[in-house]
Amino acid sequence: MVVVKTAIPLLLPMVSFAIVSFANVRSPVDTVIIDTDCGVFGDDGSAIVMLAHSPEKVRVAGITVVTGNVWAAQSAGYVREIGALVKHPEWKPAIGAQLPLTHTAALARLEPSIEFQGAFSEPPVIAPPPARTAINVMAEEIQAAPGQVTILALGPMTNVAILLRQHPDLETKIRRIVFMGGNVHVGGNASPAAEFNFWFDPEAAQIVLRSKIPEKVMFPLDICNRAVLTKALFDQVASAKTGVAARYREDLGQRYPGFLNKPDAKGYLWDELAAAWLLDTEFVTAEETSHLDVDTRFGASYGATTKLDRKLAPDATPVRVMLDLDFARLFALYRRLMTQ
Ligand code: RIB
Repeated sequence: MVVVKTAIPLLLPMVSFAIVSFANVRSPVDTVIIDTDCGVFGDDGSAIVMLAHSPEKVRVAGITVVTGNVWAAQSAGYVREIGALVKHPEWKPAIGAQLPLTHTAALARLEPSIEFQGAFSEPPVIAPPPARTAINVMAEEIQAAPGQVTILALGPMTNVAILLRQHPDLETKIRRIVFMGGNVHVGGNASPAAEFNFWFDPEAAQIVLRSKIPEKVMFPLDICNRAVLTKALFDQVASAKTGVAARYREDLGQRYPGFLNKPDAKGYLWDELAAAWLLDTEFVTAEETSHLDVDTRFGASYGATTKLDRKLAPDATPVRVMLDLDFARLFALYRRLMTQ
C-alpha cells in the first residue's frame, strides 16, 4: 500500500483510518500450517498436493507431523517424498507428538470392535526429538502473525492440544482450525461409535473442542460419507502422466482402498475436503453450528463425538459442522489440482 504523507490536514483522519483498516485486512493468501499423519500417500497426501498446487490461495508456512495413520517419524519421511513430487524439496516436516496423550496400543487391543488401528497395528517407530518440534513451528508462526494462521489438522489433534496446553496465550491468536475428524449424526469408522482421528486421541480432540480457538471448522464423517471415490473417479486422477499420479495410483490402487485389485472397492475423500474448503468454501451445501465434545471414557464409545455440556467449558467456541456437499463441484477442483 502507498501511504500518502502530504495530505491536507482535513484528510488526515481519513488517511490514518485507512492505515488502521488496511493493517487489519487479511492477505488473500491464507497462511496455513498443515498438521498431518500422512502415510505413503492416501487422503493426507492428496490434501497436501491440493494446497501445494494452489499458491495463489494458500501459503504453506509449515508442515508438522503427528502419529495416527502411521508413526510420526514415518510420516515425516512420506511428507518429504511428497514434497519432492510437488517441487518443494525444501519442506522439512517437524515431528511433534509421537504418541497420543493417553491412548495406547494396549488399550486399543482391549476393544474388539476397532476396524482400523493405524500406527497401533505396527511396532513403534520413534525418532529422536527434533530441535524444532511441531509445537515450536506452530507457536512461532502464530506469534509472528497473530490472528492470521490457519491450522489444517488432518490427523489426531495431539500436536494442537499440546500447543494449547503449552501456550495458552496463543489459543485466541490462532485464526482458525479446519480439521477432518469426528462423526456427529452418523456412526464411526474406527469403531461403530467413533471416527479414526478422534478415536486415536480422544483427549486431544476434547481439548481442541473445548478451547477458545476463534473459529473451528469441522469436516466429520457426516460430509465425508457423501464424498465417495469409485474406481471410475480414481482412474481420472491415476491416469495422469505425473509423479503425483503415479504415487496416487500405486497407493490407492494397491493399498487402501485397493482399486487395482478390487474394482468394486470404494473409498472416501476425507482430509481432501478440509483442504478443499481453504480453496473454495462454496462446495459445502449444508452445515450447522454447535458446541461439541468427545467421549473420553474408555470403552465402546471412546472417541465418539458428543454435545458439549457448556458448564464444563463455558468459554468454548462453537464448531461449524460441515454436513453435505456439491460433489461434482468438489471433484472438479480435486481432479484439476491432483492432475496438474
Ligand atoms: O476417518 C478418516 C481419517 O482417518 C482421515 O484423516 C484419514 O487419513 C484416516 O486415517
